[in-house]
Amino acid sequence: MIEKPTRRTVLGAGVFAAGSLFAIDRGAAEGPLPPTPACQDGDEATLPQIEGPYFKPSSPERLELFEEGMAGQPIELVGSVLSRTCKPLAGALLDFWQADAKGQYDNSGFRLRGHQFTDAEGRYRLRSVVPGLYPGRTRHIHVKVQPSGGRLLTTQLYFPGESQNRSDGLFRRALLMRTAKNAGWIAGRFDFVLD
Ligand SMILES: [Fe+2]
Repeated sequence: MIEKPTRRTVLGAGVFAAGSLFAIDRGAAEGPLPPTPACQDGDEATLPQIEGPYFKPSSPERLELFEEGMAGQPIELVGSVLSRTCKPLAGALLDFWQADAKGQYDNSGFRLRGHQFTDAEGRYRLRSVVPGLYPGRTRHIHVKVQPSGGRLLTTQLYFPGESQNRSDGLFRRALLMRTAKNAGWIAGRFDFVLD
């Protein structure tokens, strides 16, 4: 299918410039993401996973990891941080780090690393690129999540439809984000439930 050029694609690197991608792309989306399943009291807490070798403390505070000219498929990942009683947790810390489109981590600087805090409704929003594969791992984004004054969760988020999910021993279905394709975009969603 040939996509008509849109104002957004013409803008190129300005793709993230105009607020919510969901709002921008509503007309062009293949379909909306399925509604978030209602959180149920007593829901399982989000699974922890190993940190891996590439975490660096003191990432910059930013929700935008995408940089002008950065290679890769842009993605906007959104969701909520909730307690196990489904209460949205405002002011929770999320610290994301990931490989670039070639599967490489920036271990000298802070490219594709950033932290942010949930808003008053417990929501977060990350703008980035889909990480590339590197040997031994399926596609994933690392994150640490910590409610204000609470216990730190370290985990990893995975992408649906990846053949490598079957061969990566760390992969867990419970850590799959939901994704939808927009014109030129991946819209992702994942809600964290914290103990
Ligand atoms: Fe990794």
